[in-house]
Amino acid sequence: MFTYKDPMLRDDAMKGKTILVTGGGTGLGRSMSTYFLQLGANVIITSRKLDVLEETAREMEAETGGKVLALQSDVRKYDQVEAVINKGYEHFGRIDGLVNNAAGNFISPTERLSSGAFEAVIGIVLQGSINNTLALGKRWIKEGQPGTVLSVVTTYAWTGSAFVVPSATAKAGVLAMTRSLAVEWAKYKIRLNAVAPGPFPTKGAWDRLVPGDLQKVFDPENKVPVGRAGEHQELSNLCAYLMSDFSAYINGDCITIDGGEWLKGAGQFNAMSAVPAEMWDMIEQMTRSAK
Ligand code: HXC
Ligand code: NAP
Repeated sequence: MFTYKDPMLRDDAMKGKTILVTGGGTGLGRSMSTYFLQLGANVIITSRKLDVLEETAREMEAETGGKVLALQSDVRKYDQVEAVINKGYEHFGRIDGLVNNAAGNFISPTERLSSGAFEAVIGIVLQGSINNTLALGKRWIKEGQPGTVLSVVTTYAWTGSAFVVPSATAKAGVLAMTRSLAVEWAKYKIRLNAVAPGPFPTKGAWDRLVPGDLQKVFDPENKVPVGRAGEHQELSNLCAYLMSDFSAYINGDCITIDGGEWLKGAGQFNAMSAVPAEMWDMIEQMTRSAK
């Protein structure tokens, strides 16, 4: 029997496609890139650390037999983003999809932040996603080629969240860009969607969001109604589907994959899950007698 830990799409579901994944050398970007390769795609991975990218590329090629182009690029710099796209076209002859996955984030009370701290996170998350989407979108429109953009946001893009305000502000902007361009660029056969993952453990995120012993007190898994963190494969399955032509009629949406986490925080009485089963008889008596 298949489970959420298994690869979902049919073999060769992404054959012939070339996908650019920003921040593809680590964490979730690495996991989804590996799955795209297994499904027959070529992958371009970018980030600031070339040594990390090159090692990841070697390991992913050995694991999947696919082709990976590792290119150093800071998503905040438009000229570097354009250079990646030019090199990608030279190397593979085409780029069919973009995953805006690169991010910067850390927890902090907002009053402790400098303007530079906001600039760093917003530069990576919002301006970085804009730079890649704009540069590749212009190229696709010029060449009359269809394209697909998937941006990795998070559920606090619409709820907001204390202590990660630069990230929340930037992710909200990425979601607005996604929904706006999904309409504006549909006529060019460019499709844009987003995914909003709940907690999927990665070193990059956990070191910055629940460092040290904080995890014992604020383990993100404890907030998830289904009682566990996400598995990288289940997110990769969703992302591969959204990057493939199987999802051709999904445009401008944001798919939440969080085990119900954000809704648990939202519902007024959700905390009553803590009421023991045997107490409900007594509570029922009280509510029935409230005439
Ligand atoms: C306060 C901080 C800080 C901190 C940096 N700054 N870290 N302020 N608390 N912990 C300030 C610096 O003092 C500086 O301000 C400014 O931010 C830029 O810092 P730099 O170190 O120069 O920036 P840079 O080298 O560009 O690094 C960017 C970074 C770093 C975001 C700070 O953490 C990074 O490289 N992150 C990349 C990977 C990452 O964050 N992954 C996790 C994504 S998880 P001044 O004023 O001196 O200029 C994620 C999950 C979302 O997004 C949802 C989870 C459920
Ligand atoms: P991660 O491993 O830290 O990934 C972030 C990547 O972004 C790194 O590879 C980093 O590489 C790259 N990056 C950072 N700044 C960059 C820049 N200026 N230019 C180019 N690349 C840059 O963390 P992750 O958990 O996998 O996060 C991946 C995505 O998922 C992010 O968008 C994050 O917001 C989102 N997300 C994660 C979770 C979760 O639970 N893990 C939940 C919701 C959303 P370099 O440092 O080499 O540049």
